[in-house]
Amino acid sequence: MTDWVTEFNKKGYAKFQETELANMIDIEKVDFVFHEERLRDNFKGNLPKEVVEQMELAKTYITQKYIEPLSNDYEFMNYVIWEGVDADSSIWHNDGFEGGNIFFLFYFDDQFPESGGEVEFKWPGEGNIDTYYPKKGDLMLLNQAPGFFHRASKSKIQRRLASFTYFVEGV
Ligand SMILES: [Fe+2]
Repeated sequence: MTDWVTEFNKKGYAKFQETELANMIDIEKVDFVFHEERLRDNFKGNLPKEVVEQMELAKTYITQKYIEPLSNDYEFMNYVIWEGVDADSSIWHNDGFEGGNIFFLFYFDDQFPESGGEVEFKWPGEGNIDTYYPKKGDLMLLNQAPGFFHRASKSKIQRRLASFTYFVEGV
């Protein structure tokens, strides 16, 4: 057991800095063509070939570093890159219904209190909320077990991120 797991199980998330991943993925090569609500996600088929290769490397990196310490019984589901915050993500929610029970959020742009774009985490118990203005290189691991919720706020500045979703047995 690594030391972040206790916190992760209690609060439903864990936060890391992974500058290396930001250098690994050439986000400037990604064309954000889908601007309608819920249609803008860039799945594998919509990403340039070189970015797909970089995302595959990133996936291997985070799988080995963060998923395998949790369990060896896991299934990788997908990765997505998007820009902005849609209406559904700005209310408290849990993404477990989409099939994965654990996913990563990886941030490519700094956010600030003056411009918004915060991400918040809520776990069982009165007033249990943590708020962050993500910075480039922040990697958040989210547990989607019932009782854990998150939301994001719209930003006035560029806010690009990637998610990597897994189903991990026994978490
Ligand atoms: Fe979400």
